[in-house]
Amino acid sequence: MFSFLNKDQTTGEVEERQLDDANIPAHVAIIMDGNGRWAQQRHLPRIAGHKQGMNTVKTVAKAASDLGVKVLTLYAFSTENWKRPSAEVNYLMKLPVDFFGTFVPDLVKNNIRVKVMGYTDQLPAATQKAVNDAIADTKDCTGMVLNFALNYGGRAEIVTAVQKLAEEVQAGQLTATDIDDEAIGRELMTADLDGLRDPDLLIRTSGEERLSNFMLWQVAYSEFVFTQQHWPDFDQTALEQAIYEYQQRHRRFGGLATDNTK
Ligand code: IPE
Ligand code: IPE
Ligand code: MG
Repeated sequence: MFSFLNKDQTTGEVEERQLDDANIPAHVAIIMDGNGRWAQQRHLPRIAGHKQGMNTVKTVAKAASDLGVKVLTLYAFSTENWKRPSAEVNYLMKLPVDFFGTFVPDLVKNNIRVKVMGYTDQLPAATQKAVNDAIADTKDCTGMVLNFALNYGGRAEIVTAVQKLAEEVQAGQLTATDIDDEAIGRELMTADLDGLRDPDLLIRTSGEERLSNFMLWQVAYSEFVFTQQHWPDFDQTALEQAIYEYQQRHRRFGGLATDNTK
């Protein structure tokens, strides 16, 4: 049993809560949103929010690993984020260099393995190198997978998968009727996560309640938790609160709950 102190967002009341350690979501995915607003509220440039957000990634990765999460997927840069001013994009592209440059020894110490999903070949060379080095340096870690969605888009991911399957059909390696859930899942960027491809819990910070092109296929039956904090303010307790909320849900996957009054 993990216990944590829950603070009610409206009343400020503090109460001790227990997490059921037999029901920790195996795959947690987070849309890390609100860095810019966090900075603006402090009269700081938006990039100050991204910098602070990087520290939150370190805190939350350790917290998730300690709780027994098996895969933590973090939406770091979308295929649509290129629309931002180039100075902000350039800063975001440098962040992985700083992040892995300082955090890889801690990742190794915590037995955390780095994975990346997205169109990484379109990233600047220095960003690609930082990412590839981190993957290589953590390849023998057997604990949590820390999966960064970097230049990732859910629709593009599905388009790429469908193109690949169409080519296989054209080459006579597959028939149209062979294309099923499993065949598509095999071509998506989560394929190598095997039985942990689909997030159990999806969290989005900053009060926005939309997917913004994140893991459209994989979240079919995920539980969604939206929190008000901006990402730089998210912390271990916020993660525990989200997992607590997840543990109050009754997942049915289209069937009936074991206790079907729920
Ligand atoms: C999330 O914070 C980080 C990225 C999308 C890269 P934002 O930069 O979207 O911050 P807001 O939503 O504008 O406050
Ligand atoms: C989603 O946040 C992308 C990431 C967190 C990397 P955005 O801030 O880009 O999403 P919108 O524009 O508010 O939908
Ligand atoms: Mg945003």
